[in-house]
Amino acid sequence: MVNDQMGTDQVWSQRPWSQRPVAAPIRLRYCSSANDTENEVMMNKPYVICHMVASIDGRIATSGWNLSPEGRAEYERTAATYQADAWMCGRITMSGYARGTAPTTPISSSGLVATTDFLAPHTRAPYAIAIDPSGKLYWHTNAIDGDHVVAVLTEQVAAAYLAYLQAQQVSYLFAGTQSIDFPTALAKIADTLRVKTLLLEGGGKINGSMLRAGLIDEISLLIAPIADGTNGTPTLFDTVAQTVGPHSSVRLTLLAMEQRADGIVWLRYRCS
Ligand SMILES: NC(=O)c1ccc[n+]([C@@H]2O[C@H](COP(=O)([O-])OP(=O)(O)OC[C@H]3O[C@@H](n4cnc5c(N)ncnc54)[C@H](OP(=O)(O)O)[C@@H]3O)[C@@H](O)[C@H]2O)c1
Repeated sequence: MVNDQMGTDQVWSQRPWSQRPVAAPIRLRYCSSANDTENEVMMNKPYVICHMVASIDGRIATSGWNLSPEGRAEYERTAATYQADAWMCGRITMSGYARGTAPTTPISSSGLVATTDFLAPHTRAPYAIAIDPSGKLYWHTNAIDGDHVVAVLTEQVAAAYLAYLQAQQVSYLFAGTQSIDFPTALAKIADTLRVKTLLLEGGGKINGSMLRAGLIDEISLLIAPIADGTNGTPTLFDTVAQTVGPHSSVRLTLLAMEQRADGIVWLRYRCS
């Protein structure tokens, strides 16, 4: 799914790969206190494919781009080849889908346990997963094109907001206290939702955080024949305040390249 925040009218609307990607457990290092020695645990995670369309200069806000309907349809066409169980977006990108309003009267939250995950009744995958650390999204529906909505929250979210999500039958998982703990989020997505293949669909901040955490297995990139050149536009991989630190670039291995409609080139890389 792509929603261009600045142009929700533009829809980037199959062909199975011979080899399906496999989910692989990740090794997580942690200390339970400052004096503790480092421990290691193995956590499950889905196979994560970052699927994006970008201009030749890496920018990802597509609203002003002059592409044909066939070109725009390539995003969903190529995404469908992965037969993913879920797709995930950041809070900004997901706001174009949520489109709800805050309740005028707060919903009673008595009896709610603040950090307990909640699964609303739903048929299984696919899932639409929203990274929303402080609970800013209000939902007009609990499904996007039939995909059940699951919010990933931190423990800073107010109980009244959890009561709101439950009333809307929107599922939620906790990952992190103040900021999103991505390994925990992915472990819950694998174990609780049974997701094996996850499409990470932007925007740039969420992609950048996942890349720096070493959680992206593959990049599926559609290069549109556009030289964008706008200032301050999100790019494929951006930085957020809490992840500023030594920059480490990621070496990629080219898996495939293919020309698609309207001069688009589809590149697939494995993250090594
Ligand atoms: N071309 C494409 O394929 C494509 C696909 C998707 C989106 N887009 C474009 O991308 C743009 C939005 O991208 P964006 O990068 O500004 O926003 P984003 O990645 O969609 O969302 C970023 C938000 O996610 C939340 N978040 C929480 N923890 C985070 C963490 N550790 N790292 C990153 N984000 C975290 C934050 O929400 P809080 O602010 O609530 O804390 C943050 O503001 C839009 O213009 C959209 O059109 C393009």
